This record gives sequence, structure tokens and C-alpha cells, in this order.
Amino acid sequence: MALITLRQALDAAREGGYGVGAFNVTDLVQAEAVLDAARATKSPVIVQTIVGASAHRSDEFFWKALRNGIDDYPDVPVVLHLDHGPSYEDCVRAIEAGFTSVMIDGSLAADRMTHSTFEENVAITKKTTDYAHARGVSVEGELGTIGGSEDGGAHKEIVLADPDEAAAFVEATDVDALAVAIGTSHGAYKFTSPPDGSVLHMDLIVEIASRVPDTHLVMHGSSSLPADLRAVINAHGGTLPESWGVPEAEKARSTKLGVRKINQGMDSHMAFAAAVRSYLAEDGINVDPALYEKRGRAAMQAIVAERMEVFGQAGQAWRHELVTAN
Ligand code: 13P
Repeated sequence: MALITLRQALDAAREGGYGVGAFNVTDLVQAEAVLDAARATKSPVIVQTIVGASAHRSDEFFWKALRNGIDDYPDVPVVLHLDHGPSYEDCVRAIEAGFTSVMIDGSLAADRMTHSTFEENVAITKKTTDYAHARGVSVEGELGTIGGSEDGGAHKEIVLADPDEAAAFVEATDVDALAVAIGTSHGAYKFTSPPDGSVLHMDLIVEIASRVPDTHLVMHGSSSLPADLRAVINAHGGTLPESWGVPEAEKARSTKLGVRKINQGMDSHMAFAAAVRSYLAEDGINVDPALYEKRGRAAMQAIVAERMEVFGQAGQAWRHELVTAN
């Protein structure tokens, strides 16, 4: 059984002193890219997806295929995680579909536009942990607000996490992992210059980690936005503006400071898109999606495998050999 919980993956990461990449996928081809990268590098991995983010006709259709696909990787320890669950009901749906971990994003109110109060966030998160833990499923909560848009929806302003609130939040909700807003943002537009300490608050990680030692910290919006991929995309009709992401060295450093789960979506998607755009431009007569998706899959597998080396999870699959899913 390849499936493990987020708690199992991150407890092992703490023991081994490494981080585990959580890679966003919106279809099965991308999921294969991530799982093949994990197999090739002997890594434990977190495969994550967002409600409504796939081109498939329903979440249930996609999630079932995703869940079944993981069975083809019995040698890879895999967490199947719902990223940014917008409601308790969505988390329940994911758990029913076989996810071993869910994120309840209680940082926004039910309208998904305004910030929730601390009490509202605690209430929805606690309700979710009660339900999930009773079924052996892990839960990630969010404190503060990570900027940008994770799903193409409203663009959120950054609200940094507060260490006192983090301690109180964990105490009240019993979350396994906590997404802490430290200045990163989701998407393809992050920083207008290479980020330094005034933008990326690594000091907050250290402080919060010391306050919640049994809860694993999560860094969202961790893509680096590689300039070479942007150049390829823009050379083939793209119009991505110049933007800087989180440098690889900072991500590696964050795993030494207490970050255990590192979320990446945009870098994978840029690699996929760059490969597809250049293939279509170079080969004007092929229109079969399977042909260009193969190029995309290979490019995504390569960048995910590179990140697995940076985060330190490469070579760590052995830690889960004896672990069976709940
Ligand atoms: P990026 O947008 O930087 O890839 O981050 C993805 C993420 O944090 C998903 O939750």
C-alpha cells in the first residue's frame, strides 16, 4: 500500500531533517510525472489537488482516477492531499474519495473574499480535524493569509502569521500541519525583485516552529518561477511578465528552520507549458494531445525530480517501507 498520511510523511521528515514537496496536479498525466519523479529519486511525496481545478467534468471523476492511479506505485510512499479545501463539506468529499490528508483553508470567510476571524478559523478547522482524525486522515490548517491566488480566483493580500496565534490555533484545533503566511504568494506573479529578509520572513518560521514543536509547518507559494522557462514560454507566444519566486537556496534553508511541507504548483506548470508550447511551434503538423502531453509530462517530471533533491526528500522513501496506510 503506497498511501500514507501527511502526519506519517512529515514525522519521518522531521526525524530525517528534510522537507517534502507537495506538488499540485490538475490531471493524471501530471500526477504520473510527480509519481515517476518520486520513484526515480526514491522519494516520499505529497500529490495535491484543488477543488474544481481540473479540466475533468467533476472532482469525483478525477479524484477516483487519481486515487486508483496511486495503486500503480506500491514502492512510493504517497500522501494524497486536498490543497486549500474551501469548506468542511469539500474536505469530507475528499476523505470519502480516499484522500489521506486535507487542508481546510479557514483563513477566509465563507464568501472566500473577506478574512475570517481567528475564532471562525478555529471553529471550521476543529470541526474538520474531528471528522478527519476519526478516520485516520491528517489535517493542515492555515493561519494568516498567503497572498495571490491558488486557483485563479480572488487575489488575496498577504497577512503574516502571528506566533502567539499559531500556538493558540494549534492548541484549539489539533492540526497536524500549519500553513504559515511568511510573505510568499501563490501564482506566476510574486516578487518584483529577488526576495530578501524584508519580504520573506524566515525568522517567523523559526519563532513559530519553536512554539508548535509537534505541528509541521508548511510553506505555500514556494515556486521559483524559473526565468529560463518564462523565456521559452514567451518565445512561443506567452506574455508572462518578469517576476521572482522563492530562490532554491531559501527553500532548502527553510527545511533546516522547521518547514516540512513545501508547496509547488507554478514551477511544474511552467515546465509543462514551456515544453508543450515549444513542441507545438516546432512540429506544425501534429495535433494529437498525447504527443504534446508526453513532452509536458517529461519536462514536469524533470523539474519535480530536481526539487526533490533540493528539499532533501530524495532517497528517503525507505523510511516508510514498513508503514501501512490507516
Ligand atoms: P506556487 O503558486 O508558488 O506554485 O505555490 C503553490 C501552492 O502553494 C499551492 O497551495
